[in-house]
Parts: sequence; structure tokens; C-alpha cells
Amino acid sequence: GVPTANEKYRPQFHFTPQANWMNDPNGMVYYEGEYHLFYQYYPDSTVWGPMHWGHAVSKDLIHWEHLPIALYPDSLGYIYSGSAVIDWENTTGFGSKENPPMVAIYTYHNMEAERAGANNFETQALAYSLDKGRTWKKYKNNPVLPNPELKHFRDPKVIWHEESEQWIMILAAGDRVKFYASKDLKLWSFKSDFMRDTVAQGGGWECPDLFPLKLEGSDITKWIILVSINPGGPNGGSATQYFVGDFDGSSFQPDVDTAKWLDWGMDNYAGVTWSDIPEEDGRRLFIGWMSNWQYAQEVPTESWRSAMTLPRELKLVQEKDDIIIVSNPIKEFNVLKEQHQMDYETLLSGEVPIDIKELDLNSCELNFVFEPQEASQNGHTTAFGLLLRNDEEEELKLGYNMLSKKFFMDRTNVCKAFSNPQYLSLITGDYTIQKQVKMKIIIDASSIEVFVDDGKFVMTNTIFPQDPFNQLSLFSSLGSVKIREAEFFNIKNNKTK
Ligand code: FRU
Repeated sequence: GVPTANEKYRPQFHFTPQANWMNDPNGMVYYEGEYHLFYQYYPDSTVWGPMHWGHAVSKDLIHWEHLPIALYPDSLGYIYSGSAVIDWENTTGFGSKENPPMVAIYTYHNMEAERAGANNFETQALAYSLDKGRTWKKYKNNPVLPNPELKHFRDPKVIWHEESEQWIMILAAGDRVKFYASKDLKLWSFKSDFMRDTVAQGGGWECPDLFPLKLEGSDITKWIILVSINPGGPNGGSATQYFVGDFDGSSFQPDVDTAKWLDWGMDNYAGVTWSDIPEEDGRRLFIGWMSNWQYAQEVPTESWRSAMTLPRELKLVQEKDDIIIVSNPIKEFNVLKEQHQMDYETLLSGEVPIDIKELDLNSCELNFVFEPQEASQNGHTTAFGLLLRNDEEEELKLGYNMLSKKFFMDRTNVCKAFSNPQYLSLITGDYTIQKQVKMKIIIDASSIEVFVDDGKFVMTNTIFPQDPFNQLSLFSSLGSVKIREAEFFNIKNNKTK
């Protein structure tokens, strides 16, 4: 039967497939009032298998409509990750200027060739649609970019590079990304490699993205590379990093050699940004896969596996001597928020239960401004934050540790449903707070997204408590902390069609 939208652990306002296995978001593109989301999909099981591109559309990035599978595997291979663009000038000749084709650029992964020991089993190919992504045709001369004997050669992200008037492809190739250029998406020429040892850490690079981003409050535009790495994440498994630098249509020069974490949590992987967002909007919109290759296939959901993060807007800001990306939930998300409670200014020490009244702790947004006190009678505050509990006496603790200068989320006690204890972990991330710190916490059945100081620090994790949360406390250990603001929202369900 068709699964209901409120099965145990089913997120209510995050994108999930109706049934079965999903991984990376693919081919996100905006066209004629619709945001398209394709995704790595295996329709026959709740574990990974021969990859298809699943498909959904939305008018607001919040309410999604499921559409039929867009791309099926064929004799050239499984359909791995990739991107989509609107070919406005009809450079491919697949459509016309009046009806520009939507073109998907994806990787074929040929399993038989891989099993036979070949090195060239990943190639890049095209498919196009002339009816707003509803039906797709694969290009007859696929693949368009053959494999130069590289085991890893995948996840093409294509952009139109205005300055050099050509298409640019960024591609993952094991320990590096590669740039290719083309006038028509069909004939590609190699431009350059970009790699940094500091990020390799034994893991492979996957799902890169390349885009310009204006530095807030300036006329400066920087180029960003996002690159997902598996394993080697800050808390184990898969995670996403970024570089800030310059791109001239041929090669990328980073400002600094070290990459930064886009998200310190365990569950934000393979995320990339939307193509063809209209100039008058001008936002850089991102979505990631809210899981981790360490355990994605074992999470205790029944009819489907995994969800996407909330769509997020990425901005570039100057932070002391550094330029960093800030991530925040898109403004459209606000339509789902129902103000529940707005409170106080209060001084907190020890553990204080909060009367949550009608607040549903499993579908909510909690906003706090904390101000740790320098010294109190008891000494310095060492840690402060939140405790969520349920009737099973399971507890989720999250907050900031003043001594280690780390945000943490301890899901040790809410993952009993997980079979493997290695996932029962304390998850941490480095951040130095100022006098006050803002925390936005968004909970949806089996996920928690934390945005600190307007997105300067982000942590996304999945959780699998036996029972829903129904108790909330705040805590401050040793010293005290002032709550300057507290604001709670219930989040309305946005059930997909
Ligand atoms: C990342 C990834 C990609 C690949 C896809 C296969 O999660 O490994 O590199 O294209 O998943 O499903």
C-alpha cells in the first residue's frame, strides 16, 4: 500500500521519498515557477541499488509534489549523481530558443564493467526534457565525456560561465575535482585539476559544486567550491566542505589552502545548489541529503529511507580575517511556523524544566539567545543548552561547552533503535562564542538542525528516539547563563502530494 505520511520517524516538513531508498539530491534547477528536485533513487528496496533519478517539484521549496521517475538505468549503467541546467540559447540543439531544453548532465556507472575490473566504468551523459521536466529523452550519442581511465569520475555539476561564455563542468575524481569546458554540453575539453592534501584524509571527493557568491556588504564576488568527502567527516563518515577563492573559466585558486566544514553534524551530505534561480531573486539555494554513508542503509525507518535537509540559503560574510559561508533555512519556511510561546529574560543555573504547553517537541523550531555569565558564586559556567526527553527516559542533550569551545549534540541515549553502537555518539563542532550566542533548533521527527549565530555554525543530525519527545529542560552547569530571548514555534505539516 501507499505509505502514510506519519509513520514512525517520518519527517513532516522535510522532503522524503514516498517509499524506498533515496540518497543525493540531483539536478536541482528552477524553471517557469517550479523548483525541481531530482534524487538518487532505488524504487525496489529501502537499501541502495541500481540508481534512478527520482523527481519532485515545488513552487515554494516547502510543499513538494512527487512526479514519476525521470531517469531509469540502461545498458550504459546506473544513473549516478549530476546536475541540470536550462539551455536558454539552445546550444545543444535539443530544443529551440522559444522552448529551451532542460538538460540533465549525469554519470553513468557501469557495474558490469566495474566487476570485470575495468577502470573506465564512469562516464558523463546527457538527457533532456522539452516539457518542464515531465518526460525525458537520453541523448543518442551518450556518453559525451568518456573516461580517461580513472576509477572515480563522477557527479558532474554544470554551470554557464558568463565571463568566458561557455559551460563549465566540475567533476569529482577521487582525490581531486576536474574542470571541463564546452560550448554545447556535448563536446568537452579538459581545463584543470584542483586538489588539496589537507582535505583528502583518506576519503574520496564526491558531488562538487562551483558557483559565485557576493560577499555581503561589498561589491566583491568570490567563487565557491563545495565538495563532499567520504569518509573523513569531522564526526566520522561523510560530510561536506567548502573552499572560497577565484575562478577564471579555467582554474580555481583558493584564498587559503584549508577547507571549512559547511555543516559539523553527521547528516548533511552530497548537498549542492539550485541552478537558474532568476536574477531578481538572486539567492544561492542549497539542499543536502540528511544522512551519512556510515549508517544510511541501517536507520530504523520502515518503508522509506532518508530525507533531505531543509532548503537553505547560503551567503558569504566577512568574519574577522576570514570569509565564511553562513547557512540559514529559506525564508519560505516561515509560512509553516505557528508562534507558540515567547518568553522571558531569566537567569538559569542547574536544570530547569520548561512548561511546553501545546508545543510539539517533534515538529518545532526553538530559538534562544544565551548569555553565559562570566563568573558566579559557583564558578564559571562550563556548559549550557537543552535537554529533550520522552516517556522512555531517553534523553537528547545539546548545547555549548565553554571549556572545549565546542557545540555538542549527544544522541547516545536516543539511538537505541540503531543496531550498531558505533553510531551512538557525542557529536561536536568547533566554534568560539561571543558575549551572547543565538541558537535556532529545528526538530522534525527524526532530525535536528541547529543554526548558530545566523548560520555561522551549523550542525545537522538524525535521531531515532523510541518515543516522541514530551519534556524540555534548559541547563547550565556550574555557573549560570542568562536567557535573553526564547521563542518557540510549532511547525505545520506540509504533507507532500
Ligand atoms: C554520493 C555518491 C555519488 C554517486 C552516488 C551514487 O553519495 O556516492 O558520488 O554519484 O552517491 O548513488
